[in-house]
Amino acid sequence: HAQKPFVNEPFTDFSQEENKRAQAAALEQVKNELGRSYPLIIGGQEVKGENTFTSVNPGQPDQIIGTFVSATREQTNEAIQAAAKAFETWKRVPAKERAGYLFAAAKLVRQRRFQLNAWMIYEVGKSWVEADVELAEAIDFLEFYAREALRLAEEQPITRIPEEDNELVYIPLGVAAVIPPWNFPCAIMAGMTSAAFVTGNTVVLKPASTAPAIAYQFIQILKEVGVPAGVVNFLTGSGSMIGDTLVDSSDVRFISFTGSREVGLRIYERAAKVQAGQRWLKRSILEMGGKDAVVVDETADLEDAATNIVSSAFGFQGQKCSAGSRAIIVEAVYDEVLQKVVEKAKKLSFGDVTRPETYMGAVVDANAKKKILEYIEIGKGEGKLLLGGGEQGPGYFIEPTIFAEVDPHARIAQEEIFGPVLTVIKAKDFENALDIANDTEYGLTGSLYSKSAEHIARAREEYHVGNLYFNRKSTGALVGVHPFGGFNMSGTDSKAGGRDYLLLFTQAKAISVKK
Ligand code: NAD
Ligand code: ALA
Repeated sequence: HAQKPFVNEPFTDFSQEENKRAQAAALEQVKNELGRSYPLIIGGQEVKGENTFTSVNPGQPDQIIGTFVSATREQTNEAIQAAAKAFETWKRVPAKERAGYLFAAAKLVRQRRFQLNAWMIYEVGKSWVEADVELAEAIDFLEFYAREALRLAEEQPITRIPEEDNELVYIPLGVAAVIPPWNFPCAIMAGMTSAAFVTGNTVVLKPASTAPAIAYQFIQILKEVGVPAGVVNFLTGSGSMIGDTLVDSSDVRFISFTGSREVGLRIYERAAKVQAGQRWLKRSILEMGGKDAVVVDETADLEDAATNIVSSAFGFQGQKCSAGSRAIIVEAVYDEVLQKVVEKAKKLSFGDVTRPETYMGAVVDANAKKKILEYIEIGKGEGKLLLGGGEQGPGYFIEPTIFAEVDPHARIAQEEIFGPVLTVIKAKDFENALDIANDTEYGLTGSLYSKSAEHIARAREEYHVGNLYFNRKSTGALVGVHPFGGFNMSGTDSKAGGRDYLLLFTQAKAISVKK
């Protein structure tokens, strides 16, 4: 199996009746599983707790997805100790065996595709297509990192000299604190976790508090395929309550985090402090936010550009780090593109994501809704509201919203809103558009719609983003194809789904034997 080269998992075609029926049936099945209580998993043991919190359906907040334990600081330390103990044996398990667990998990994820999609549809309000594309990405991460772990275990290319036998081997680091976001609660969570343990580290996984149920499903899959107790510990609870305990622990060797700039910077600073008894410099792998742009010049296919401005801005309610939340359009085609964008956005279906035809659901929780509505109020003073701006309840629904005539330095043009709000900016010409695109503290993804070879060549050099796309939307990076990560305040550019990624989870040891 491992010999087959990596290929991306295909997406499900929901125009096929058979797939539609299977997804609908899985939604019914998972509905019957909602509302259960879940333990922490520490050293393979199920651990209960006095304090709990619930995960709810954002489209229907009275529907409880599950009740989870709010781990205490003591339990956090127990999870770290369980991971430290497991590391002593796990670090010696051959790469082939470790990779085997990922291949086996990928198989089960594939088999349970529609059920896992259903968990995401209920728990974070993904549409069928968004859930399914994410599920494919989760399988891709497992398949890709398994192969990568095998590649790193091979003989590494070094210069040979006659008088010595030399080699370079990649060894694990130790205990990982893995802290994923809620917006790709299956793919990013599974990718970060599997990358950490396939390289021989052990993990304390603290899923995001709005998406612990899907993470629990994954943990069960790891158990079923036989990942030994203590290798991946499952610790739920509020990041603000237990995050510092995890990050500050002298027994944690590295932190793998994906989330907001604010929390990322906090972790970066705290992890830099060497604690009493700590024998290493903690490593932090931090992937953070974006204020990504889709630039359109006068040579572009305007219809295509407008279609993809809309999907970049509003896919999964705009809650992607890769979302094209700024459209920067040159003056010559501004009116035409803007009109097309508004027309297309008006047609987006909006509402109950358990229905196959719905494109946009609710935003993730009440806090997100409040924050996005505050930005919409700010936007009313900074630009011209062309579409949306309203909300619906009791779910956390916000209409697709478009502001035009916005100054590039306005708050809605600079700050990550993380919701269905598109800021449209007029540029004088291509040069000005590129300057505006780069005038942000972030640098994650960026798109350019253009047919000009000169503009494309220029953007290739100067558009300062980790993932640069031409004549393509700003979202939807594929594992292996578009290694993913951003510049500046978007993070450490770890390039998830690329050949450099697993190196971040290892340290290299050079071994030399005099002949
Ligand atoms: P968040 O920063 O609020 O939370 C991320 C994780 O950190 C959660 O598990 C949370 O519980 C935990 N956390 C919170 N406070 C903590 C603390 N003090 N110490 C340790 N952990 C703590 O982000 P979010 O709302 O879950 O995700 C949205 C953000 O993630 C957006 O900014 C988005 O752009 C970003 N994101 C980035 C990428 C990327 O690859 N660059 C991918 C997806 C999402
Ligand atoms: N990897 C995700 C995307 O590219 C975030 O949209």
